[in-house]
Amino acid sequence: MTLIAQSPKKVFLQTFGCQMNERDSEAVTGLLFDRGYTHAVEIEEADLILYNTCSVRDHAEQKVFGRMGHFRRLKDMNPDLVIGILGCMAQEHGRQFFKKNPEIDLVCGPGNLNQVPALVDEILAARHQGGSGQMNSTKKLAIDRLNEEYGLDGIQYRADKVKALVNIMTGCDHRCTYCIVPYTRGDEQSRHSESVLREMKDLASRGYKDVMLLGQNVNSYGKGLEEKIDFSTLLEKIQETAPEISRLRFTTSHPKDAHTRLFQVMRDLPMVCEHLHLPVQSGSNAVLRRMKREHTIEWYKDQIAEYRTFLPEGSLTTDLIVGFPGETEKDFQDTLDLLEAVQFDMAYVFAYSPRPGTPALKLGDDVSAEEKNRRLQEVLVTQRAIAFAKNQTYTGKTTEVLFEIRSKRDKDRFVGRTRDFKRVVAHSSEDICGSLRQAKILSVADETLLGELV
Ligand code: SAH
Ligand code: SF4
Ligand code: F3S
Repeated sequence: MTLIAQSPKKVFLQTFGCQMNERDSEAVTGLLFDRGYTHAVEIEEADLILYNTCSVRDHAEQKVFGRMGHFRRLKDMNPDLVIGILGCMAQEHGRQFFKKNPEIDLVCGPGNLNQVPALVDEILAARHQGGSGQMNSTKKLAIDRLNEEYGLDGIQYRADKVKALVNIMTGCDHRCTYCIVPYTRGDEQSRHSESVLREMKDLASRGYKDVMLLGQNVNSYGKGLEEKIDFSTLLEKIQETAPEISRLRFTTSHPKDAHTRLFQVMRDLPMVCEHLHLPVQSGSNAVLRRMKREHTIEWYKDQIAEYRTFLPEGSLTTDLIVGFPGETEKDFQDTLDLLEAVQFDMAYVFAYSPRPGTPALKLGDDVSAEEKNRRLQEVLVTQRAIAFAKNQTYTGKTTEVLFEIRSKRDKDRFVGRTRDFKRVVAHSSEDICGSLRQAKILSVADETLLGELV
């Protein structure tokens, strides 16, 4: 008998949702690569299909449910295929997936992701043993580690060579009434600083230049840990431990937990970038109250004023929801007024989407889809003009850019970011990916600065 070398198994992993999901997917990929898996370029060639999902708005969920017919056809063609739903939708819908979507084999929540390779093995073993008679033994559900310690520590695999994402905490202790995240990610859990610092040191030694620290609410980092540490102290320790990393970013900050000391540390630590993402959600106090945001517009404006005294050149971005239950035309105008008053560099705007199990459900959903869309467009138009005017002030200035990618269409064209997170495009005949260069800004096109190397 001749032995035929088995070709390595191929995984196709698609990610939806936030940057935390992106890092989770990367870590799961690392675990699978350790087991000999390789990337499937096309979904059709995969032995394992994983969707790391997001529940934050209905639209995100529909994108995944819309794939089920395709999954079924792929499985008809390849009965050995294993299909898994990971992340927030897995946590939210759990066993329902098996009932409604028999093509799904694995449902694994965000806290259980380090079990993915073992669970896939178990599914295959159960099939091999003829488990098909008892459907359940070839299906695996893992959603029981919602509030446990971060389980993806020490995984070195990185998809990018220049930038890295680092989760410093999971979950959220706030209960904004519209938001499903506390139910899909559980309560706040900070990673031990020792393990974060180990990861930062490793990234520095591998030449990473830009690291983004991630959490739903990074400003309350340290809460519940035995060691006495807060977010600003963590930033200081990172500066001390891994100063070779030129740029340190973080997201997301909650206005209620962002304090003077954070702005001080942002000003004083060379590696911390001059950019703050501070979601405000609405310009109306009445709406903020119903959202249970625990901050007012006055408080928010005071914080921005303070941030700007510490970092006068720092940029500021935000998230907004339009069409929250009971949002009147006047409330909406207050949001537009806030945009004019604060002058954000960028805003991510969303139409309110009622989420199962959230407290806002009992407020109804009284702003029509058309009206939500009108408000969304109006915010976008207003904000675009503000951003354009702000970006114009960069013209003629020379600034440091970390170039991250080479354009596929024009190989002499490179795209990077300034420290304050502006996108810059510049030409170069040599490969400048991964290098920090000075660029002079010549003009502005929409949200991009067009520059030349100096
Ligand atoms: N933890 C972060 C962000 C979490 S989700 C924070 O508190 O800022 C990212 C953004 O999605 C939120 O800031 C909010 O603007 C938006 N979002 C969350 N739930 C939503 C919903 N039900 N409908 C529409 N947008 C929502
Ligand atoms: Fe959701 Fe609010 Fe927590 Fe952000 S702070 S994740 S919006 S509950
Ligand atoms: Fe979505 Fe879960 Fe992130 S709901 S935004 S993937 S925490």
